Amino acid sequence: MSEDVTMDKIVSLSRRRGFVFPSSEIYGGMGSTFDYGHYGVLMKNNIRERWFEAMVRNRDDIVAIDSAVILHPKVWEASGHVAGFTDPLIDCRTCKLRFRADKLEDSSCGRKPSKHPGETPECDLTEPRRFNLMFETTVGALQEEGSRAYLRPETAQGIFINFKNVLQIARRKPPFGIAQIGKSFRNEITPGNFLFRVREFEQMEMEFFVPPDEAEKWYRYWIDERLNWYRRYGLRDSKLRVREHGPEERSHYSQGTSDIEYDYPIGWSELEGIANRGDFDLTQHAEHSTTKLEYVGQDGERYVPYVIEPAVSIERIMVALLVDAYDEEVVGERERTVLRLHPKMAPVTAAILPLIGKSDEMVAKARSLYEDLRRRHSVEYDDGGAIGRRYRRQDEIGTPWAFTVDEQTLQDDTVTVRDRDSLAQERIPIAGVRDWLEDALERDWKSPKGN
Ligand code: GAP
Repeated sequence: MSEDVTMDKIVSLSRRRGFVFPSSEIYGGMGSTFDYGHYGVLMKNNIRERWFEAMVRNRDDIVAIDSAVILHPKVWEASGHVAGFTDPLIDCRTCKLRFRADKLEDSSCGRKPSKHPGETPECDLTEPRRFNLMFETTVGALQEEGSRAYLRPETAQGIFINFKNVLQIARRKPPFGIAQIGKSFRNEITPGNFLFRVREFEQMEMEFFVPPDEAEKWYRYWIDERLNWYRRYGLRDSKLRVREHGPEERSHYSQGTSDIEYDYPIGWSELEGIANRGDFDLTQHAEHSTTKLEYVGQDGERYVPYVIEPAVSIERIMVALLVDAYDEEVVGERERTVLRLHPKMAPVTAAILPLIGKSDEMVAKARSLYEDLRRRHSVEYDDGGAIGRRYRRQDEIGTPWAFTVDEQTLQDDTVTVRDRDSLAQERIPIAGVRDWLEDALERDWKSPKGN
């Protein structure tokens, strides 16, 4: 097994197999913007589904919301984003490139061989200035005073402004949470590293409202829950760690933040953040909107809840899953590339293959099995080309199992099941395939790449 996983290999496989395409390619591309192909969409659906299941469906204390992307502009004044959601920006007058002043060490300037900005006497850098990362837009037909609005840079604020609705209408009482999945937009100065830092991404955030004196307990609880979620879906322990921010690194709203980091090909970097936001957001929105945002108990007890927030993007999870799963090995003198994805994250759960694509009988049996399975699972039928090539194709998109209809199937109604990772094959009755698959999906799964 190979541990030599570079971002280039992930980008190349993603493109070759139709997970992710560079966006607007026929117009010359639009840097760091991506479109998702069929398998990318299926995989994103799985990530979203597994998150929603763990955060909402399997719990009694969290409800869902889907707020607007364009909110009242005052939301972003209250949240602190208009004044403070900025990065320090530096221009180089020589190479005409822009850099984040706090990331000069991680950036390379335009000259060859590549240098860090400011490293050579030719570099002519401006003083840093604050650059707001929110995308501005205009609401309505006229571009006039008062029509300016923003694309949301996080989904969280759409949750805070609905706190009262959920408290009253969903009749909740702390501790309870509100979860949201949706696109967020940030005009990043230096996007890059494939999907890791993009300008348009899909966030999955949950705001958990708790009595203030329970905040620390719930903060620790959510760090553990989220870490276990990654382990459950196969990310290896050796590639995961929790890093607590020092006071100087925390956002303006935070009383404590920990990042779950993954060892990406670019080094240890933030996969998900878990923050104790205190009562900052509810207090700010109460002040700016003059609406009381607090919990009042039946016995008259009243307080502004503290908020614990686990926040992540589908993009960062997708890159971590692909990197963790990517493998190359030689089998019988042939090289194969395989994505050893958790079966519940793989875009296709099983392939159904007639051994001989030209055999009407095999095709009929395989198609009938496919029609049965597709009602419950993401499955793929393929009868084109040599069987070895069809297996390799499924390996590259991470399909955990292939059911093959062959000569023997025509005699005794059994099929072979091929395992993507061990390459072991077993025979099972065709009538038992559906149950076999359901059982296999519920089994605990560990990465065959080890820990
Ligand atoms: N509501 C809190 C919040 O948005 P954040 O640390 O700025 O906090 C949360 O973002 C998560 O969103 C990050 O941990 C990361 O998973 C994801 N994220 C942030 N910026 C991103 C970007 N430009 N591209 C992809 N994912 C991003």
